[in-house]
Amino acid sequence: MGNKCILHLDFPKILDERGNLSFFENNNQIPFDIKRVYWIYDVPGGEHRGGHAYKMQQEVIIALSGSFDIVIHDGQKETVVTLNRSYYGVYIPSMFWRHLENFSTNAVALIVSDMPYSEDDYIRDFESFKSYKLS
Ligand code: TYD
Repeated sequence: MGNKCILHLDFPKILDERGNLSFFENNNQIPFDIKRVYWIYDVPGGEHRGGHAYKMQQEVIIALSGSFDIVIHDGQKETVVTLNRSYYGVYIPSMFWRHLENFSTNAVALIVSDMPYSEDDYIRDFESFKSYKLS
């Protein structure tokens, strides 16, 4: 799909006295073809995850449980998004630097991706990321 800006996604909520339900589907609530889903959990207090950018990969990040902050950098400015609702997600296009921090106890970060895992797609050095953005 190739969006180049961060999108805030509100997933459908089926409210029910027995407990609520939310969902997403390929190319519907998730704006791309889903190729991989992974999750980050049991994060010790004060730890960061995911300090890198992707050359091609797009992703949606959801706080399925608990809360954490996503710090997103476009090469010029930083934006911090706090995730603390399981029906809410953030779409991050390729070529944005991002890391996750400030995890609450029992936080679970669900990451939905449009690519299989590929180390070649990672940019793990912030200065290289900024040069890459300018080139
Ligand atoms: P990585 O994305 O580098 O996490 P972080 O940026 O938080 O350090 O993933 C850590 C390791 O996990 C990576 O070196 C390889 C492995 N990994 C997979 O095998 N498959 C995956 O889908 C992901 C996301 C990671």
